[in-house]
Amino acid sequence: MSERPITITVDGETVTGAAGQTVAGVLLAAGRLSWRTTRSGAPRGVFCGIGACFDCLLTVNGVADVRACRRRAADGDEVRTQSREEGA
Ligand code: FES
Repeated sequence: MSERPITITVDGETVTGAAGQTVAGVLLAAGRLSWRTTRSGAPRGVFCGIGACFDCLLTVNGVADVRACRRRAADGDEVRTQSREEGA
């Protein structure tokens, strides 16, 4: 993995990572373990880590239901967390 730093925003908050990390990797490295809630309000983040469970959904650059564990983070990405009511 590259050591080249990248910066994304998550719900408007700046988060830094390294080029080559997935969005989930950037969030986990920043100490965030969950970023979505189910209808009951239960927190969700990475479960399988391989794109199979869809627990890690979030919105990236306006595109909803992106799997954070499969999407490589890019410098300047605007990430929004999702709740069940938003379609996750
Ligand atoms: S953690 Fe299972 S799809 Fe991303």
